[in-house]
Amino acid sequence: MYEQASHALLNEILTELKPEIGKMRLRHFYTRLGANFYAIHSLFHLLYGNRPDFKAQMVSLVETLAFRYIERLPHLRRSDLEREINYNWFLSQKWVGMALYCDRFAADLKGLRTRLPYLQELGVNMLHIMPILDCPADNSDGGYAVRDFLKVDARFGTNEDVEALASTLKKREMLLVLDVVVNHTSNEHEWAVKARQGDKKYQDYFHMFDDRETPDLYEETMPEIFPATSPGNFTWDEAMGKWVMTVFNSYQWDLNYRNPAVLIEMIDIILFWANKGADILRLDAVAFLWKKIGSTCQNEREAHLLLQLMKDCCQVTAPGVLFIAEAIVAPSEIAKYFGEDAINAKECEIAYNATLMALLWDAVATKNARLLNQGIKNLPEKIERATWLNYVRCHDDIGLGFDDSDVQRAGYEPAKHRHFLLEYFTGKFPGSLARGLPFGENTRTGDARISGSLASLVGLEAALESGDEAAIGAAINTILLLHGMILSFGGIPLLYYGDAIGMLNNLEYLADPNHRLDTRWAHRSRFDWSKADKRHKKGTVEFRIFSELKKMIALRKETPAFADFDNRQLLAVENQNLLAFIRTDPQNSRNKVLVVGNFSVEAQMLQISSLRSFGLFQQDSMRNICTGAPVTVEKDAIIVPALCCYWLTD
Ligand code: GLC
Ligand code: GLC
Repeated sequence: MYEQASHALLNEILTELKPEIGKMRLRHFYTRLGANFYAIHSLFHLLYGNRPDFKAQMVSLVETLAFRYIERLPHLRRSDLEREINYNWFLSQKWVGMALYCDRFAADLKGLRTRLPYLQELGVNMLHIMPILDCPADNSDGGYAVRDFLKVDARFGTNEDVEALASTLKKREMLLVLDVVVNHTSNEHEWAVKARQGDKKYQDYFHMFDDRETPDLYEETMPEIFPATSPGNFTWDEAMGKWVMTVFNSYQWDLNYRNPAVLIEMIDIILFWANKGADILRLDAVAFLWKKIGSTCQNEREAHLLLQLMKDCCQVTAPGVLFIAEAIVAPSEIAKYFGEDAINAKECEIAYNATLMALLWDAVATKNARLLNQGIKNLPEKIERATWLNYVRCHDDIGLGFDDSDVQRAGYEPAKHRHFLLEYFTGKFPGSLARGLPFGENTRTGDARISGSLASLVGLEAALESGDEAAIGAAINTILLLHGMILSFGGIPLLYYGDAIGMLNNLEYLADPNHRLDTRWAHRSRFDWSKADKRHKKGTVEFRIFSELKKMIALRKETPAFADFDNRQLLAVENQNLLAFIRTDPQNSRNKVLVVGNFSVEAQMLQISSLRSFGLFQQDSMRNICTGAPVTVEKDAIIVPALCCYWLTD
């Protein structure tokens, strides 16, 4: 939109830029700055307009964008232009992601390059490397307590290694996803160190208070994120004699985005990694960016404004780069991270589908799809040019973040049901083979979340110990069923590194004093390459999981109906053990795929009479995409085997 005041300001700013910027030929930069400036200016003004240094801060922001544009290499600029033309590129079904720890999957970044054939064998072409930036060795929160945002940790290699990896990935047509931890720094970060030394400029980068008065006000409404290991949201710093806001661990200092300098630094960091060749940046803990007394300090409107600003700025300098929102929040809040009241995504193009993840786990425990159906029905509408990251497991715990009214509509009492799920996944519920571990237990509220590897949570560990073949088969089928769902739901499936070979919990973390109290490390073990070798040996558990997943991934990529263009229709089915939806090819609406998941341990019937009106079952059978075999209608129904995911087409 053209707006006089903002255009006049832009002209003024352009004359004030450092001379070296003025001399450069920056055609695309200026076009994009012109196109985005109204939005950038309005948002920046909403957040910081009352400051006397507002204009100076605006100049500094524009300079940051210009310098990072000047630095952006020709091949990345070319990719920006290509992606601007083909702007829906990431909605294609051809993308399949995996998240892994560089040092746990390979030794370091160089080693990781030699391990790429494993990912390609499986069909993975989007690689999320868990955080690799410089962190203190002891207090690192798995890489999320960053000491230097611009430097790779020496344990993993160098910045050059990242660039080399990015270029190898590009040749292999794979995408690189890196983290930017936008919400906090390590207490050893230079900004924190200077703040501690009394530097007022850097004290203003954080939230700090001389006494308990303000912290106590905040605490009235702020929940605790790590209540077991790091209770409360503030930490006393002896050196400064101040309370510092530390929402996560006591060594992770929350950044103060009321200070525009912090936002500009962070945009600079985002663009720095965009320039190192990242295709997608995962913005960590975005729900927490804005703190306000009297609120939970999550999902605040200003947090959304900050993300819009980050996006608009990235659009100017590195428009080909996408953002993933890591906001593991209530179902009604998550979709807002695509941008509210927008047609196209204007914050993050991709968001973790934590709702689907938690609902799938509910179906695993209850062995029915009641809550799953209910929750998906209420999954917020997604705007255009936005997509989900669908996952079963990740490096974090599983939170039971369902909507209470959905839980009630599914016929459960919320508190009791959550208690049941905790008992089930920690193996206390009679008959449960799950080997999960509690995480983040809050003795005050009774809340807890669940850690554990996929295989251990679905009972594979217990089944292997007892040698019960039927139980082993059921666990493997559950793993495949869950992946069948995330591969077909619509969005980018994100696998977790040990899951394709059925890696179990590993309790070595108990011997590490830095990890001992954090059960998430049970599912962050070293990738077992000798176990991975068994994926080629027929009959092994590894073979049974890996080869099936590999096939499903290949078939997903060949099935245009699995691209994500608002082309999923949930079906109301009578049988509550089943989840059924139709995916329609966005290019050709006659091509449909019926996806049916049976979460029960018994075979189930799906009545098909009502499905004919959707253009399904025009003949008396449909083809199972995964096996090629027909699935035949008998007495107006088909039989879906226990713990099975069908992808059916005409
Ligand atoms: C994110 C990360 C999690 C980390 C937290 C604090 O939620 O996924 O692992 O502990 O942020 O940085
Ligand atoms: C290779 C293979 C893997 C093997 C490993 C040995 O990357 O993919 O199967 O176990 O190297 O170090």
